[in-house]
Amino acid sequence: MSNPSLLILPGDGIGPEVMAEVRRIIAWFGEKRGITFDVSEDLVGGAAYDAHGTPLHDDTMAKAQSVDAVLLGAVGGPKYDGLDFSVKPERGLLRLRKEMDLFANLRPAQCFDALADFSSLKRDVVAGLDIMIVRELTSGIYFGEPRGIIEEGNERVGINTQRYTESEIDRVARSAFELAMKRGKKVCSMEKANVMESGILWREVVTEVGKDYPEVELSHMYADAGAMQLVRWPKQFDVIVTDNLFGDLLSDAAAMLTGSLGMLPSASLGAPMENGRPKALYEPVHGSAPDIAGQAKANPIACVLSFAMALRYSFDLGAEAERVEAAVNKVLGDGARTADLLGEEGVTPVSTSGMGDAILAALDAGL
Ligand code: NAD
Ligand code: IPM
Ligand code: MN
Repeated sequence: MSNPSLLILPGDGIGPEVMAEVRRIIAWFGEKRGITFDVSEDLVGGAAYDAHGTPLHDDTMAKAQSVDAVLLGAVGGPKYDGLDFSVKPERGLLRLRKEMDLFANLRPAQCFDALADFSSLKRDVVAGLDIMIVRELTSGIYFGEPRGIIEEGNERVGINTQRYTESEIDRVARSAFELAMKRGKKVCSMEKANVMESGILWREVVTEVGKDYPEVELSHMYADAGAMQLVRWPKQFDVIVTDNLFGDLLSDAAAMLTGSLGMLPSASLGAPMENGRPKALYEPVHGSAPDIAGQAKANPIACVLSFAMALRYSFDLGAEAERVEAAVNKVLGDGARTADLLGEEGVTPVSTSGMGDAILAALDAGL
């Protein structure tokens, strides 16, 4: 059998910096565990624009469609602020999500014990936290038509449209319930059914899907109240399912429950391919962090944990995923801190590759 294939798209800013550490971990798996991937690498975002004048070349899109999984760093940066909207770095990422039909974006927020004091919230509120946000990723206001900036009378109007079909809601809701069955058997659906028709439909369809999962306790919240509950008492949640835009906001907020945006991984999954595995792209929740890019300060853990999610969801290597997660837990327990995780007196931060060294040492120690 051929090796599983991975396409690596490091992207911009800290993307290549954090991805370099993941590449070392991939190499470690080949050397120490006999798990070898066919790895190819390509450009996305601003890096692709610089080379090809487009944030995602068609050849790269075709490669992404043909591999077992894509690993992406981050895209964007101030250098590209002035570009036409259609070729902005972020369009490359959105095209990947849309054309691969990666409708279920899993964004777990877990608080590692050693970081319980790093959240801006009290230790009690976050210690032991383990929630999963399932964000719809290929529809809603990010993609709805009509959209654009038009002239109306003597001024311009910016237009975006929130649009959800029943089948789009149904499939992401099923992903959330399936995950809940393997976790704490609770789903909380978040929308704004009080002000949006798409929210009314969302609530109806999620309720209907819930009937197929009688063991799962389903609740509904307006997304604004959900945001409040997420910082008031996040441990009340198990799986949260929500739309594209609310999911974007709620997952950045959830990141701070774990101590840093540099900790949060994600998996974007589509329908099963012929081999039964989902089409998949894995990426940290954070962006290209232009404020720290090029300074070796970036925390690679979100990207490393994204690779762990690939092991679990694309390659059926759950035990190997746990090996990576345990290594991260160990280095944090041992006190390794990148600059985003400082808070304790007298702690000197490690660099991005310093954190990579520590994770590799912990992987060796765990053999
Ligand atoms: P950001 O996530 O890049 O950064 C927000 C803050 O978090 C910054 O202070 C940054 O230094 C810090 N941070 C983020 N990741 C970190 C890490 N791994 N280690 C340490 N600190 C980290 O968000 P932003 O500044 O709003 O956006 C910057 C660019 O990234 C924009 O062009 C945006 O569109 C893009 N972006 C891309 C993605 C993606 O590729 N998936 C996601 C979000 C934002
Ligand atoms: C994310 C990012 C993206 C989004 C951008 C970069 C397109 O913020 O992955 O959370 O808005 O979905
Ligand atoms: Mn975001």
